Amino acid sequence: MEKGMQYIMNTYSRFPLKLVRGEGTYVYDENGKKYLDFAAGIAVTSLGHANKKLTEAIKSQAEKLLHISNLYWNEPQITLAEKLVKNSAFDKVFFCNSGAESVEAALKLARKYASKSGSGKYEIIAMNNSFHGRTLGAITATGQKKYREGLAPLLPGIIHAEFNDIKSLEALITDKTCAVLLEPVQGESGIHPADKDYLVKVRELCNQNNLLLIFDEVQCGAGRCGSLFAHEIYGVYPDIAVMAKGLAGGVPIGAMLATEKAAQGFKPGDHASTFGGNPLATAAANVVMDELTGGLLSNVKKQGEYLTLKLKELAAKHKCITEVRGLGLMLGIELNVPAKDIVAKCIENGLLLVSAGERVIRFVPPLTVSKEEIDELAGILDSSI
Ligand SMILES: Cc1ncc(COP(=O)(O)O)c(C=O)c1O
Repeated sequence: MEKGMQYIMNTYSRFPLKLVRGEGTYVYDENGKKYLDFAAGIAVTSLGHANKKLTEAIKSQAEKLLHISNLYWNEPQITLAEKLVKNSAFDKVFFCNSGAESVEAALKLARKYASKSGSGKYEIIAMNNSFHGRTLGAITATGQKKYREGLAPLLPGIIHAEFNDIKSLEALITDKTCAVLLEPVQGESGIHPADKDYLVKVRELCNQNNLLLIFDEVQCGAGRCGSLFAHEIYGVYPDIAVMAKGLAGGVPIGAMLATEKAAQGFKPGDHASTFGGNPLATAAANVVMDELTGGLLSNVKKQGEYLTLKLKELAAKHKCITEVRGLGLMLGIELNVPAKDIVAKCIENGLLLVSAGERVIRFVPPLTVSKEEIDELAGILDSSI
């Protein structure tokens, strides 16, 4: 850890914990101490740690071909794109390597689409309290001051409306607006699901004003909420959706999906990524997609309901929990005490959790989590509080 602090740039406040291996919903530190992992690398390790099918696919792909660039075709990438399209309302996929990159791709596609139509539109309306990543475009879209300080001037033409407030959005639409960007379930700012009525109206407003609707499903997508995309639960379909995090179970990947119409905004040369969709990452994501379409989603729904029940029991017992909310296995508890104190105590007691803002603890375990593991979590959390 001392060496890490000496050589690694000081951008993270890490817990003093060095993890060396994992298995399913558990990880182990260098002394062999076992931790129940409900942080899952911040909603990433969707199939748990050291999943056999995933490990085999990564190993076998590494023995064949790791990387070739997008100058040529590769089979795992095409197969993954086909799976994503056949299991969604989208027609085309662009691959990249992270959530922020997928957001950048969507911001660019929205502007390119508008510029191609000669409309002169460029403005994108994002939401207050959102989180879209740390690149300059994504951080401009992120509606939280604390992340944007000291970076001015940010990208012009991105403004913010109140989330879950249709009037606030309506008031900001002008003849310069080309797109609306939002998370169907805001994650990093504290697990805030959109209201169904609101999302339906956002779609209507976009249709009426000829705006592209972009959903950031980096955290709430890839099965996390109980369906492949969170927007399917709402029955509201965007023109563009971006995903990352859990899509390849821990191998870096990002994807932007678009309808045929929106995808027309890009022509060859308009956007690219050296690593995007490389054979290793897409071979891993193919395994995750097969699991998600092969029955894993029913476990997400079932265990999501059970976890909600257990968290509500804890809320009834402990006054410091003021609300339980979320969808599927993307749940949060609102606290009236600092989240970090409880998270630190849980680590001591063998449980990894991740906070969201100062007063919310997130529960984003592997999608393979079992009822027994949820019982174990509830016990540790109870005694830690
Ligand atoms: C909704 C959302 N969008 C984008 C990002 C950025 O993803 P990445 O850290 O992979 O760039 C995150 C990360 O937490 C996220 O939750």
